[in-house]
Amino acid sequence: MTTLDHSQTKLEKIPVTLFGDPKEASKYVAEHIADLVFKRQATGQPVVLGLATGATPVLVYQELVRMHKQDGLSFKNVITFNLDEYYPISPDSPQSYHYFMNYHLFDHVDIPKENINIPSGTIDKAEVNRYCEEYENKIDAVGGIDIQVLGIGRTGHIGFNEPGSGFRSKTRIVKLDPITISDATREFIKEEFVPRTALTMGVKSIFKARKVFLMAWGEKKAAIVSTAVEGEVTKEIPSSFLQNHPDAEIVLDTTAGTGLSRFKTPWLTGFCEWNDALRKRAVIWLSEKLDKPILKLTDKDYKENELDELIMFPNYSQELNVKIFNELQHTITGWPGGKPNVDDTHRPERALPAKKRVIVFSPHPDDDVISMGGTLLKLVEQEHDVHVAYQTSGNIAVFDDDAIRFAEFAKLLEGALGKDDGVLQNTYDQVVEDLKGKKQGDQNSDRLKIIKGLIRRAEASAACRFCRVKQENVHFLNLPFYETGNIMKKELSDADIGIIKELLVEVQPHQVFAAGDLHDPHGTHKVCLDAIMLALKDLKSEPWTKNCYLWLYRGAWQEWDIEKIEMAIPLSPIDVMRKRKAIFKHQSQKDTPVFPGEDAREFWQRAEDRNSATAKRYDKLGLTEYEAIEAFVKYTF
Ligand code: F6R
Repeated sequence: MTTLDHSQTKLEKIPVTLFGDPKEASKYVAEHIADLVFKRQATGQPVVLGLATGATPVLVYQELVRMHKQDGLSFKNVITFNLDEYYPISPDSPQSYHYFMNYHLFDHVDIPKENINIPSGTIDKAEVNRYCEEYENKIDAVGGIDIQVLGIGRTGHIGFNEPGSGFRSKTRIVKLDPITISDATREFIKEEFVPRTALTMGVKSIFKARKVFLMAWGEKKAAIVSTAVEGEVTKEIPSSFLQNHPDAEIVLDTTAGTGLSRFKTPWLTGFCEWNDALRKRAVIWLSEKLDKPILKLTDKDYKENELDELIMFPNYSQELNVKIFNELQHTITGWPGGKPNVDDTHRPERALPAKKRVIVFSPHPDDDVISMGGTLLKLVEQEHDVHVAYQTSGNIAVFDDDAIRFAEFAKLLEGALGKDDGVLQNTYDQVVEDLKGKKQGDQNSDRLKIIKGLIRRAEASAACRFCRVKQENVHFLNLPFYETGNIMKKELSDADIGIIKELLVEVQPHQVFAAGDLHDPHGTHKVCLDAIMLALKDLKSEPWTKNCYLWLYRGAWQEWDIEKIEMAIPLSPIDVMRKRKAIFKHQSQKDTPVFPGEDAREFWQRAEDRNSATAKRYDKLGLTEYEAIEAFVKYTF
């Protein structure tokens, strides 16, 4: 937990408590809850909790369950009110908040069933208004909520109070915002399966809680958190109403806090401890703000934009402009594995050894080409010994109808080759049977998991063939944490880390490329990165690790902040086309992938848009104009 000088936080209108990671932060919130429960138990009084669902509070519930099992925390005196529920939805549906709460909390603690209140997703339409009023009255009748736990949606919603929800809003039926629907697609698999409406406690109902914790994890939340905390109070960002709450607290992990002015633009808070990294950020910020190349920035520009401190000495701004310009220029190289036979003092990669052993880790079977396809092609062309390691099978992201198509193909092939021993005919029949009555998103049978995994494996093989990666250098790791057959994954275990370690020891790479996505703390990319980090940590005593650089790339959704980029690989229009063709090999992910996320574009389009946006930013800062750029950050382990 970090405590700060007041001026650093002066733009923050709600107290913010920051932690290194979501686990620590969740423990903090869980301890607050437990303290109150223990205190009230001592006097025989109940505690009323307002609870949220979604990815954010999962670790809080995990910690409460742990405390119940190990520390004697009882929930006998606890009454709960959940914020919301999809409408209509059956409580048995795995996507329902009833199911979620039982799965993560209620099934594991001793709370009396009659103390649990979750808005009903099955109430008759004609009864909804009366039902909502009763829900509200019930909260008041038990004395109001003591502690309200909240997450925040990317629209700025709390509960399902979407933009436009007024301060006085009460428990009611609401229409979900398209962004929320698209975020929920993750659970419902297809957007059309997401209910369009929900029942939610209102802003007023939440506001009445005596203490409110709003939690957020991951970079994906950074922008909306800073708007809610530092922006105007407006019904367009319902969470901003908490600025007026007498005891609201924002609990963040470091990445969710990165949008706050104290980190992003500390010079605007009037308290800035300058260092090289901040100076670089400030110069880039100023150049982009004024839409002026770095080398054209003047003292006046610095002065008028609260950067006086950077121009204290004569000519300093000019020197600084040149310094930052050079630093950015030195990130650019067409030689991702290092350029042989040249001075490498200002190059991101070493010249030697000229032929490097490289492992490109890809969390799903297509992240390698989507995120660094251009670089991968160059590494192979420049004759490095390139290995690609697919960390997970990606088998949940294949549509059922693709599975049946391939099962049929196998059956037909068996017949066409005259090897009709019926095995594949039988498999096909069983797949048809498995799919009867199965809705997209229901648990896959083992057979379906295998077929879907193989579809993705063959696609990844095809992409590697296209990129001329040797087939013996293509590794399918099928990490066990992923193999649940549905969205909820297992915890990372020694088995996962062991598999990564084995490959690292076998290849002894000079370069490792890995997905450095931190925006989704529970997401597969982050877990896959953790597995690599833990493996490298364990192997630290091996001599080859001293000579191994770890380069992080970003997934399809996001780019590194420009000031963080340490290696920028420019792509020509031809490189971009070749990368596109490599991505096209992932046919099961084309058109509409199973998990499109919030973005309707196909992966190749997102990749191209992002790589060309990075090139444009470099160009506008005054550097050479390229068609596209793939960017990497070096991680010291
Ligand atoms: C859930 C709820 C929502 C979520 C929010 C963040 O009960 O009311 O407001 O808290 O959408 O969701 P996650 O935590 O999944 O990012």
